[in-house]
Amino acid sequence: MSAQKIQIFDTTLRDGEQVPGCKLNMEEKLVIARQLELLGVNVIEAGFPVSSPGDYEAIRAIAAQTKDATVCGLTRAVENDIRVAAEALKAARYPRIHTGIGTSESHVKFKLRTTQADVVERAVAAVKLAKSFVEDVEFYAEDAGRTDNEFLAMVCEAAIKAGATVLNIPDTTGYCLPEEYGAKIKYLYENVRGVQNVTLSTHCHNDLGLATANSISGVINGARQIECTINGVGERAGNTALEEVVMILRQHPYLNLDTSVNTRLLTETSHLVSHMMRMQVQPNKAIVGANAFAHSSGIHQDGVIKHRETYEIIDPKEVGAEDSSIVLTARSGRAALAYRMQKLGYALEKEALDKAYSSFLAVADKKKEVIDEDLHLMVEQDNLVSAN
Ligand code: KIV
Ligand code: ZN
Repeated sequence: MSAQKIQIFDTTLRDGEQVPGCKLNMEEKLVIARQLELLGVNVIEAGFPVSSPGDYEAIRAIAAQTKDATVCGLTRAVENDIRVAAEALKAARYPRIHTGIGTSESHVKFKLRTTQADVVERAVAAVKLAKSFVEDVEFYAEDAGRTDNEFLAMVCEAAIKAGATVLNIPDTTGYCLPEEYGAKIKYLYENVRGVQNVTLSTHCHNDLGLATANSISGVINGARQIECTINGVGERAGNTALEEVVMILRQHPYLNLDTSVNTRLLTETSHLVSHMMRMQVQPNKAIVGANAFAHSSGIHQDGVIKHRETYEIIDPKEVGAEDSSIVLTARSGRAALAYRMQKLGYALEKEALDKAYSSFLAVADKKKEVIDEDLHLMVEQDNLVSAN
């Protein structure tokens, strides 16, 4: 049986761009949008059209250049937002309006200062208005993670009746545990009339470091779209990282869930976004960090040199990264030194290797990392071998 497709909704250009200091100009947004389409995402959330003239123009340009992906614009449940979004998306081949309102007790009472009945009414009006412009309308129940399931189901059902095609269940504050979030999706799947005719979507923030786990729990329990960003960029601690959810589904085929992302473009896309947003990726970041395929301890290096899969669950080529790297430090063993020497053209016999290893340790104890120049120098100074 072929795997069911999970839609990848990328919000790097909207939720991701909300990060302080990461603002993108029009040209940068167009380049990233082009790369996202090449990567194979299904939906590009291009921005929040009413927020500024610059964002509006960028969304218009992205809508015009995008051929295969759906282009989406965010709105509040406010008439003018929706009209402006519809205008900005006019040139899109597949336009989607993403509208919604807060549903948690905290949002209803303290942010909106209204009643649950009013929230339902505004949600319905927003979806209906959006539907008068485009066929594809996504409804978000902001702070769904902390919303009482019964009320959430009621709002979702009303949004479906009003014409929503996708229901976004955001864990806006990154509060939920994976089991809790999965149970919420399951509850909606089992209790909302008409839910089988729409797509349930996850949108998880990373305040407790659980965004990826929650998104995966969501799709295991029936969601069919994941909202995410490249490198996990986003408000506060960020959003679900696209590269992580895509590779989790790819590496666990028994889940029978997959995406249409071309994983070989993940690393270059990560570098592009990092460069354009001027936001470094932490070296130990899963999938795309500089150390994701680097091995520095002797035990691991020995294993990887003998058989890569002893310490790697992903072939670096699958994500477009360079080959696994063996980093030479004071924790490295003879196997790693011999391996690197060989790559440099020095085939060391046992005696020469022993000698080289003690020189190597002396250098390694002084330096963080021993590089190829150090090795060449060592061979020369210790008169170890003649190059092959
Ligand atoms: O986190 C959130 O709730 C959002 C919505 C606006 C979709 O980003
Ligand atoms: Zn968000």
